[in-house]
Amino acid sequence: MLVKLGKVPTVIISSSETARQALKDHDLNCWPRELSYNYVDIAFSPFDDYWKEVRKLVVQELFSTKQVNSIQPIKEEEVKKLIDSMAESASQKTQVNLNEKFLALTVSVLCRAAFGVSFEGTVLSNGRLNKLVREAYEMLGSFSASDYIPYAGWMVDRFSGLEGRRDKSVQDLDAFYEQMFDLHKEEKEKGSEDFVDVLLRLEKEETVVGNDKFTRNHIKAILMNILLAGMDTSSITMTWAMAELARNPRVMKKVQSEIRNQTVNKFMISLDDTNQLNYLKMVIKETWRLHPPVPLLVPREVMSEFEINGYKIEPKTQLYVNVWAIGCDQDTWKDPEMFLPERFIDNNIDAKGKHFELLPFGSGRRICPAIYMGTTMVEFGLANMLYHFDWKLPEGMVVEDIDMEEYPGLTVSKKNELLLVPMKYFDH
Ligand code: HEM
Repeated sequence: MLVKLGKVPTVIISSSETARQALKDHDLNCWPRELSYNYVDIAFSPFDDYWKEVRKLVVQELFSTKQVNSIQPIKEEEVKKLIDSMAESASQKTQVNLNEKFLALTVSVLCRAAFGVSFEGTVLSNGRLNKLVREAYEMLGSFSASDYIPYAGWMVDRFSGLEGRRDKSVQDLDAFYEQMFDLHKEEKEKGSEDFVDVLLRLEKEETVVGNDKFTRNHIKAILMNILLAGMDTSSITMTWAMAELARNPRVMKKVQSEIRNQTVNKFMISLDDTNQLNYLKMVIKETWRLHPPVPLLVPREVMSEFEINGYKIEPKTQLYVNVWAIGCDQDTWKDPEMFLPERFIDNNIDAKGKHFELLPFGSGRRICPAIYMGTTMVEFGLANMLYHFDWKLPEGMVVEDIDMEEYPGLTVSKKNELLLVPMKYFDH
């Protein structure tokens, strides 16, 4: 579909076949669209040498299987804290807000793993960080008039308050990073070089990355990219999965039986155990099909002309891949509106960007570099929640009352709280 958003021609891709053409065959013709928002122009920079070197560095230092496995003890500690807090709610028979709990979990893991600090009990505690990031997402997902309306767009942005909100969001993020660097200096364990240390070293040594000297702004851009992309994508998946399971008691029972039959008498499901949980993996894929956390991927800009199905796509066109629509395409999926994890039994579709019917992590050179980190976080977190607890709706609520309204932005989360009452399955 071609629409004109003000001055900008915008193509929206909504089938797996056209997504394959855009993201695989013509990957080189498209760059990420520049978003004029703080360091985002660095964070979402084109495929130049800088981008290549930074991506390599980040994958090596943070997202490789080896690095991700090395942070497993952090994940275990944080999931244990979550189990303890759920167990307390269970003994008091009180409901828990799962959006909040899952977000707190992924923020703690991410901050400890990527920034080497825990913000718990500091001025940068989860509440403030969550607000900051939510606001940044909204600004990134919002349509700025100056991007689309020639000459007068900036006036619309100014009078609508968007410009002021963006400036404020930029300043707040900046202050956050500075405080984070201070905290990092205080908390850092002597001797070991963590990810932030590596970046600070590159800055200190004035290393040339791409064509430029590496500066504090580059560090902030990289951390911003990781923070924005990594903070709530995993927790959004966990929340939607639990909402779907609460709405589908048959699936809930089946996935819990799988986990409990395979893992007997353990305090915690390990990462190795999750490898055997095939039905849980199908539940997660089905969740991504219906609720991809980044439903339009990162917007791209066409740099050189190419054709899709005989249609010319001109340079300067903005390109969105509607991963949500692809997941609901009736030509691919039978009864697409139903939550049916069994649909994955007879096919080999996975979510790693090779099968264009299911693209929660995107595809092509811009594909999420943290697929392993994100997937293991979701599997490990959910497996433990489903192993330890049965889940009941709050008093007076029936399955039909669970709403599935979405909160708009670059990532799309469940708008309203998912409130469920945990009940301990084991006595220990
Ligand atoms: C379930 C979890 C996750 C999902 C569904 C997800 C999804 C995505 C998607 C759709 C993109 C854009 C791809 C494209 O436009 O083709 C992306 C990019 C990215 N993701 Fe993830 N992500 C997840 C977890 C994470 C985590 C945990 C981190 C970091 C700790 C992370 C870091 C990134 C980064 C840095 C990018 C930008 C890559 C670039 O610009 O080249 N993601 N992710």
